[in-house]
Amino acid sequence: MRSAVLVTLAATYSSAVGLPETYHLDRRDDLAHSPPVYPSPWMSPNAIGWEEAYQKAKDFVSQLHLDEKVNLTTGVGWQGEQCVGQVGSIPRLGFRSLCMQDSPLGVRFGDYSSAFPSGQTVAASFDRDLFYRRGQAIGAEHKGKGVTVVLGPVAGPIGRTPEGGRNWEGFSPDPWLSGIGIAETTKGIQDAGVIACAKHYIANEQEHFRQVGESVGRGFNISGTLSSNIDDKTMHELYLWPFVDVVKAGVGSIMCSYNQVNNSYACQNSKLLNGLLKSELGFQGFVMSDWQAQHSGVASAVAGLDMTMPGDTEFNTGLSYWGTNLTLAVINGTVPEYRIDDMAMRIMAAFFKVGLELDQPEINFDSWTLDTYGPIHYAANEGFQQINWHVDVQNGHGALIREVAAKSTVLLKNEGALPLKKPKFLAVVGEDAGPSALGPNGCADRGCDEGTLAMGWGSGTANFPYLIAPIDALNFQAADDGTRIEAVLNNSATSQITDLVSQADATALVFVNADSGEGYIEYDGNAGDRKNLTLWGNGDEIIKNVSSLCNNTIVIIHSVGPTLLTDWYDSPNVTAIIWAGLPGQESGRSIVDVLYGKVNPAARTPFTWGAKREDYGTDVLYEPNNGDGAPQQDFTEGVFIDYRHFDKKNITPIYEFGFGLSYTTFEYSDLAVEKKYPTAYNPTAGETAEAPTFGAGFSTDLNDYLFPSDSFRYIWQYIYPYVNTSSSAAEASQDPHYGQTADEFLPSKAIDAAAQPLHPAGPTLDGESGGNNGLWDELYTVTAQITNTGDVAGDEVVQLYVSLGGSDDPPVVLRGFDRIHIEPGQSVQFNTTLVRRDLSNWDTASQNWVITDHPKTVYVGPSSRKLPLSASLS
Ligand code: NOJ
Repeated sequence: MRSAVLVTLAATYSSAVGLPETYHLDRRDDLAHSPPVYPSPWMSPNAIGWEEAYQKAKDFVSQLHLDEKVNLTTGVGWQGEQCVGQVGSIPRLGFRSLCMQDSPLGVRFGDYSSAFPSGQTVAASFDRDLFYRRGQAIGAEHKGKGVTVVLGPVAGPIGRTPEGGRNWEGFSPDPWLSGIGIAETTKGIQDAGVIACAKHYIANEQEHFRQVGESVGRGFNISGTLSSNIDDKTMHELYLWPFVDVVKAGVGSIMCSYNQVNNSYACQNSKLLNGLLKSELGFQGFVMSDWQAQHSGVASAVAGLDMTMPGDTEFNTGLSYWGTNLTLAVINGTVPEYRIDDMAMRIMAAFFKVGLELDQPEINFDSWTLDTYGPIHYAANEGFQQINWHVDVQNGHGALIREVAAKSTVLLKNEGALPLKKPKFLAVVGEDAGPSALGPNGCADRGCDEGTLAMGWGSGTANFPYLIAPIDALNFQAADDGTRIEAVLNNSATSQITDLVSQADATALVFVNADSGEGYIEYDGNAGDRKNLTLWGNGDEIIKNVSSLCNNTIVIIHSVGPTLLTDWYDSPNVTAIIWAGLPGQESGRSIVDVLYGKVNPAARTPFTWGAKREDYGTDVLYEPNNGDGAPQQDFTEGVFIDYRHFDKKNITPIYEFGFGLSYTTFEYSDLAVEKKYPTAYNPTAGETAEAPTFGAGFSTDLNDYLFPSDSFRYIWQYIYPYVNTSSSAAEASQDPHYGQTADEFLPSKAIDAAAQPLHPAGPTLDGESGGNNGLWDELYTVTAQITNTGDVAGDEVVQLYVSLGGSDDPPVVLRGFDRIHIEPGQSVQFNTTLVRRDLSNWDTASQNWVITDHPKTVYVGPSSRKLPLSASLS
């Protein structure tokens, strides 16, 4: 019997390896269960788009010793180096360590770098080209700082509940829009020469209970993180959908999330990693853990995890599930050699795929201080040297940021109030119009709501190089126009606000906001997730007050998602409502562009605005519901989130998904549907090769893994692949459980190296990643004529929806869109295709996609509820 190397929380490992769950049975006996899927699929070096990268990876990995391979997979520990995560280096080959850095909207902790609009904001543009260009600029800024992996973009959370604290980091609760958003952003990032990391995989839909320590710190007695309990069909048709698109787009890495899925931790859930991601989608890159989301050593390795971040078991323990323990696990055979080789190959293939070279540029910034000189090993306070070079990577991106923000601004209501034309008197109201007295970066990780809101809080942030508040840009515009302008930027100054907006000829611009962020920061009772959907800073009361006094009240909302507009949106005195999302550093200029018609608004709300919180049908779980066990969040609503829920239940929203106005008008006509005849859908057959290994094998003599020499400088709390004693593996491991046998804890087939059958819904060995390639066969071409019937040029976001026809299907689902520029009086053709995937449902019995017999209908129109054109699909 082989001995095992396993450091784990007892509660987590049985579910990860598929053993019977006994742990929770005294609490609930119907806990969702995640089936075991083993062995972990090894790479397919001939997958389309990965061939050259894998050839280079093979050349490199074949030269590595075991401890060097381990170094590629294991972070050096929290704050061990300059980036938020770094793996070990390979000094023998002059290979510096890989740098992982947040965030999805800019270089977190950077100086002289840009703060872009959030993912959710750009989603509102419905503009593929903007998705791409924003991604490319973000990628280029990271590249300029020496980053290897950008920790973004985000499709988990997708936005199951509107209160979810990190929804703004992602795109939209619609999986089709989210899929295009994350795929195009990833292409942009990777074309800039850095690896994108699509996160958080998967069902990471709320902040409450995402980590035990965080929850215990707030007084909750739980022993495991939240389990998102999802059925197979919902997983495929909703949560996995955007990850399919990003895998197909060639993403280099994917971050597994904190939560459990069906009571197995996402970073050791073999069904999610081995099954869905690597087998069914044929993902060829590497899986990286979220920070402290790894809970076991061998179990996570055989379940498909490829890199642990930041490398220590918990921040700054100096211990690791991997590092030394992974070296020992390979030596004693509990992690097969092919698995460590596969990890290294996947990491290096992603590296080469985006054009990185072995001789990498230096990392020129530091996450933990902006000081020019300081300790390179921050946690250990060691290695004083220059750590910040203050390299300016902005490269004029302010213009793009302004363009993205303006093109993503949604006009929700307009009773002729907009665009402004040299108004006589502007009365500007609200803290959200002005700067923060603390400075734009005054709160760490933006964990407060002072002044105008231009990004949420948490790790998904960046430092503002400057922040143009709305009032700054409005003042300049007013000066140019000869407009009188006054602002009251204190939400509590009721009498000053009242006096201001009561004056003759006032056009009131009321700026309001609602914020949220990542769970480690709690602000005003919002522990990451929002505690309610009302506006912050008394915003609703201010709007009601102003609109009771001023018959031309224009409301501008900066927010992380929908807020409740119910009490005031239909007041005749509220003459316009704008949602400007989280616009980033050019907030002021972009809102002026829209208010004054320099940019004709065309964006569409990427989520539904309900009248009541309850109307959404889903909510955050705020209190543990499983005793001191892992809280259980049952996704019983299935695929019915956001508009799909409103439509199914026939609940009238205030503004529906996809809705947005323009300063011109459009008419839709001439829908035409042409059927195409691709070959039949073939379930993929055949099998893989046997598991490959690379290089000259490895020594099993512990003496070969001792720290290199007496002169080697050991850094405190740093994670190494070496052993500190060769006398006993148990002693070297520092794992109290060392000595468990493989048979005691490894599921069957976990270390099997034999050829494995390919997944019927997956790609062939030389196909394109993302699933069975037949899913992208074109079945229909759809065209329609769109005419600009107004007086000004504008963009129209044409949307295509499909009814899949089954009783379990939403009335309509988004399956196409385009943003088209049309001159006044002109007519332009909207042209799109429907592929097999667009018309399929996940069939749990055959474990494949099927087109059901239910009658299917295609709709085209300007929003999810305004669909003037329709045709049945034969
Ligand atoms: C935890 C967050 O969930 C993740 O998004 C981020 O990339 C890491 N921390 C690193 O900061």
